[in-house]
Amino acid sequence: MRSLVYSVAAAAVVFAAVPAFARPPRIAVHGGVISRESIQRSPFGKAPDGAGVDLFTLTNRHGMVMKMMTYGATITEIKAPDRSGKMGDVILGFDTLPEYVKNSPYFGATIGRYGNRIAGGKFTLNGKTYHLAKNNGPNSLHGGKKGFDKVVWKATPRMSSAGPSIRFYYLSRNGEEGFPGTLRTTVIYTLTNDNAVRIEYSATTDRATPFNLTNHSYFNLAGKGLILDHVLWLAAHHYTPVDATLIPTGVIAPVKGTPFDFTTPTKIGARIDELKGNPGGYDHNFVLDSHGRRFSLAATAFDPSTGRVLSVYTDQPGVQFYSGNFLDGSFAGRGGQVYHKHSAFCLETQHFPDSPNHPNFPSTILRPGQRYHTITVYHFGVR
Ligand code: GLA
Repeated sequence: MRSLVYSVAAAAVVFAAVPAFARPPRIAVHGGVISRESIQRSPFGKAPDGAGVDLFTLTNRHGMVMKMMTYGATITEIKAPDRSGKMGDVILGFDTLPEYVKNSPYFGATIGRYGNRIAGGKFTLNGKTYHLAKNNGPNSLHGGKKGFDKVVWKATPRMSSAGPSIRFYYLSRNGEEGFPGTLRTTVIYTLTNDNAVRIEYSATTDRATPFNLTNHSYFNLAGKGLILDHVLWLAAHHYTPVDATLIPTGVIAPVKGTPFDFTTPTKIGARIDELKGNPGGYDHNFVLDSHGRRFSLAATAFDPSTGRVLSVYTDQPGVQFYSGNFLDGSFAGRGGQVYHKHSAFCLETQHFPDSPNHPNFPSTILRPGQRYHTITVYHFGVR
């Protein structure tokens, strides 16, 4: 069985050129436990098209663990400390690849070419109308039938100065899923030594095309149960109301006086029953106060039972806050745990849904000669 460990020895080679005082220690002792930064690679089965899939286990200096697979450049597992220092699960996932292929509602995946919905599965660009697969009622969702979450990415592991890291690369051909342009996409995931998952997305194209990447991790900071008692704060005084098929109406509405006001920390469950619709719950794009003009704190979520705090930083103009409404207990995930409605929440940093059909939204068009480049950080702390 092929299994590679990139650890202290490999790191020593990478860091040989860095002055000793600037080098982080590669081995640390925490509470009597020796943890070392490492990246381990092992086979994880085959994708439906027969391509081999690998699983990486990244461990940082504090013993925090993130697992990622090349299918969908997907985070399959994150273990973060609680207020007593005990490591535990903070995202939803499965134990095996076939379960991801069969059941996954985008758990932990890298989403592209277009995160969230495009109305009617069509848009017009430079006078030409493009038709996409309608994989979500009348709309296109998360890149179509075979989005970036369902392709096998090329992965290059690296011990970076910030922490263990994987560089994922995918070449999407002109016309793939109906989108124009050959796209070269690189996403670098780093498990940093200050207990954060840093995601750096970049891409280039040879034809103008809509482009909107995100990561679709489902967080549950308690590792079990529902997330209704998690306390959420959003740096968003506005949101984009949606129609019955979850397409923005185009209005940018104030959150004040509505269940969408998380400008002061509020339990997710406090007003969730006021939201009508089927299946009900939060599934909305929030307009960040930064308007995507600077990298800043966009959201925090706090779980009172474990003390875990998730802080989300981004340079994107929006965040889709989704309260796991479509989870319905119809399948079990890691360790046989059944995922019910509101078992997790997502904070998908991105541009607004259906932007190609809303000229008043920030543009998502990537053009030849431009470089798409954006950074999101999910930091795990305690209170
Ligand atoms: C996003 C969407 C939701 C849902 C999930 C995946 O968050 O906004 O409506 O489709 O992805 O199930």
